[in-house]
Amino acid sequence: MIDLHCHILPGVDDGPESQDESLSMARKAVEDGIYTIVATPHTLNGIYINPVKEVTSRVAALQEALSKNHIKLQLYAGADVYLCPNMLERIESGDAGTINDSRKYILLELPSQIVPPGVKDEIFSLKLNGITPIISHPERNSAIQHDTDILYELIRMGALSQVTAMSITGDFGEMALQCSERLLKHRLVHIIASDAHSSDSRPPILSQAVEAAAEIMGNYEEAEHMVTEVPATILSGVIIEIPEPMRAK
Ligand SMILES: [Fe+2]
Repeated sequence: MIDLHCHILPGVDDGPESQDESLSMARKAVEDGIYTIVATPHTLNGIYINPVKEVTSRVAALQEALSKNHIKLQLYAGADVYLCPNMLERIESGDAGTINDSRKYILLELPSQIVPPGVKDEIFSLKLNGITPIISHPERNSAIQHDTDILYELIRMGALSQVTAMSITGDFGEMALQCSERLLKHRLVHIIASDAHSSDSRPPILSQAVEAAAEIMGNYEEAEHMVTEVPATILSGVIIEIPEPMRAK
């Protein structure tokens, strides 16, 4: 499996504080069958900056530590970029990282309560320039929890959606669980990722969520693709075909 959204780099955000903690996370991921992780530190969220250059060198350092410790896990650079004006310029300046630095896909974090109207302009401009935004954890956004059509509209514009594994397993509460179920049933989810921050309370584990998603959708293969083929295609920077999304009403 591939984990496309994971705060595994030490000392760069509210993820692990030490390299030892990062290594514990990596061991846990490998145990779960994850062999590739995209390191996605918080970026431009008002607290953390994490420009591309810095993330790339920190990924190289952690990769070296993994190999010294005989942990077979491949890391790639990415970022969990908070929605802000002029996303395209921030990508071009190297302030906002894309997945695997390919400038084809970017993980986009929305505010937790609302979906700002400006998001449509940003998606439009990114798509026009060949960059596909991936909305991270829409199921934890209050506005989308109350109206999943908001996400439907963004997907119709060409965005993808990434749901958090722990939401699907019920560990983020009833609202996030119910929203995840609704999104999965209406083809409004393309990727399942851990959004892990630690080795214990928010670990990099995907297998349980895949099982749960398979049950919700009644389709194991589709759930499995959300942690294998879909993230692999995104990592390689190739355009992805997605099933027609459905309105949830
Ligand atoms: Fe995140």
